[in-house]
Formats: sequence, structure tokens, C-alpha cells
Amino acid sequence: MVQEEFVLEDRDFRKLSKLVMDNAGIVLSERKRAFVHGRLGRRLRALGLNDFAQYCRLLETSDGDDELRNFINAVTTNHTSFFRESHHLDHLSRTILPGLMTENSDTRRIRIWSAGCSSGEEPYSIAMTLLSSTASLAGWNTKILATDLDTNVIAHAARGIYDTERAEGIPVALRNRFTSMRDGNVVMNDELCDLITFAHLNLLEAWPMQGPFDVIFCRNVVIYFDKPTQMRLFDRYANVLKPDGWLIIGHSENLIGITDRFEAVGRTIYRRIR
Ligand SMILES: C[S@@+](CC[C@H](N)C(=O)[O-])C[C@H]1O[C@@H](n2cnc3c(N)ncnc32)[C@H](O)[C@@H]1O
Repeated sequence: MVQEEFVLEDRDFRKLSKLVMDNAGIVLSERKRAFVHGRLGRRLRALGLNDFAQYCRLLETSDGDDELRNFINAVTTNHTSFFRESHHLDHLSRTILPGLMTENSDTRRIRIWSAGCSSGEEPYSIAMTLLSSTASLAGWNTKILATDLDTNVIAHAARGIYDTERAEGIPVALRNRFTSMRDGNVVMNDELCDLITFAHLNLLEAWPMQGPFDVIFCRNVVIYFDKPTQMRLFDRYANVLKPDGWLIIGHSENLIGITDRFEAVGRTIYRRIR
């Protein structure tokens, strides 16, 4: 049998799980043990540490939060893709956007938040959907805020550069219109970038923005949170959404037993009702 380079003792796994829960709201269940072991093994190697106990001590005693940030980055799950769950984007273009153009005709302002945007594929897909919709945004003040806890993925998102394989998820017509090639990579164009503001944000902490938002996408983020954290988060989303504002969540998520401030109006699509 191959000897594991580092052994992850129960005691250290419990400490690391608590740190992730306290700092990011993410539940690291026993099923995630191998994942944590693999991801953090790389941090131990990079730091020249001998075991997880040393790593725990480093996290507990570091007053600067550099390693804490690396630790959180290492244990987040960032899986995403362009035009993921594209029925949400169809709904945005066919129903939400035309509705907002009537409801917001006095302010001519549209605010969308992609919360937990990972490496940016979600907000760029939203931007392409808005700009290619039949409803013209000319004369409208439209902004997409895209945030994530993981500093590595948000930096990637802000660069807007993807390898060609990832960009294959973008429908060809939109890829031709909104991206260009540079050094063998696919680059998001200025029209998209001008719509989006990327920022590092921990959803559990204070939010610098007050809204109100017309639409919040928070897809495939809360599956990693426990129920009390989900309850607090959806209540806060309702507070920063306009009355009737839209909330869009991931395919394996639901609001049953979590909040009564939204009504379901489609597949994982909700509107604020109170
Ligand atoms: C699986 S990705 C989902 C990306 C995208 N929304 C999608 O559906 O394709 C989940 C993202 O949530 C982020 N996340 C996890 N906990 C967070 C927190 N407390 N605050 C902000 N973002 C968080 C992770 O860093 C990760 O990038």
C-alpha cells in the first residue's frame, strides 16, 4: 500500500472544518475528507510543513490572514461553466428583462448580482444574454455585480481570459460577437467587461452595497452551507431585492423550510413576495 505523505487526523480535520464553517459558512462533512486532504496537502508542501497539526497551529496563530485566505481558497468548490443551467438565462432574456423595462421605465436602471460567481463564467453569460436580448439596453443604466469569497477565482474572473475548451460552452454566435482570441485564449470584450464589476465578498460578512437589486443569481453556492446559514442569507437577499425582485438558485437547491419571503415561479426561479 502506498504510504500517505500526510496523515489527516480526526482532531485536525475537526479543527479545519470548524475554521471553514466559522469563516465561510461551508460545511465540510466527512465525505469531503479526501477532498480537503488533497487540496491542503498542496498547501503543506508549499509551506514546507510536516503535518496537518502544524498547519492548524499556523492557521490558529497567524494574525495576518494570508494563510487563512489560501486555506479558504483551497477548500472552496469552484465548479462552473458558461451558460450553465441555461434555462435561467432564457428566462432572463424572455421574461425578466422585458418586465424590468416596463417596471423600471422611470429610473431606466437595472441591477443584477451574481453572488458566488466563481471564475466569472456566470456573470459573463448574464452579460451576453442581456446584450443579445431583443430588448435594447441603449439609454439604460445596467450593471452586474459579481462577487466571490475565493480571491483566486475572482482575480481570474476579472481578467476575463479563458482557454478555448471552457469557452466552447458559449453559443458560437455570441462567442463571435463578444469575444476575441489572444495568444490562443478567448478574451471577453470591453462591452461585457463594462457591464460587470468584480469584487471579493464573503456572503457571511457585512455587504458594502445596499441594493436594491432587480435580480440575484446565487446558484450552486448555498448547497455547501448549513440550514441556519442559508436562512440568514436568503433573508438578507430579500432585504436587498426590490419587491417582486427575482432570485435564481442552483438546480439542487430549494427554499423549502428556509424562507417564506419568496414564491416559486419557475424551475429554481423565485420572486420576492415580502
Ligand atoms: C460551485 S461555485 C458556483 C459558481 C456559479 N454560481 C455557478 O453556478 O456556476 C460556488 C462558489 O461559491 C463561492 N462561495 C462559497 N462560500 C462563499 C461565501 N461564504 N461567500 C461568497 N462566496 C462563497 C465559492 O468560492 C465558489 O466559487
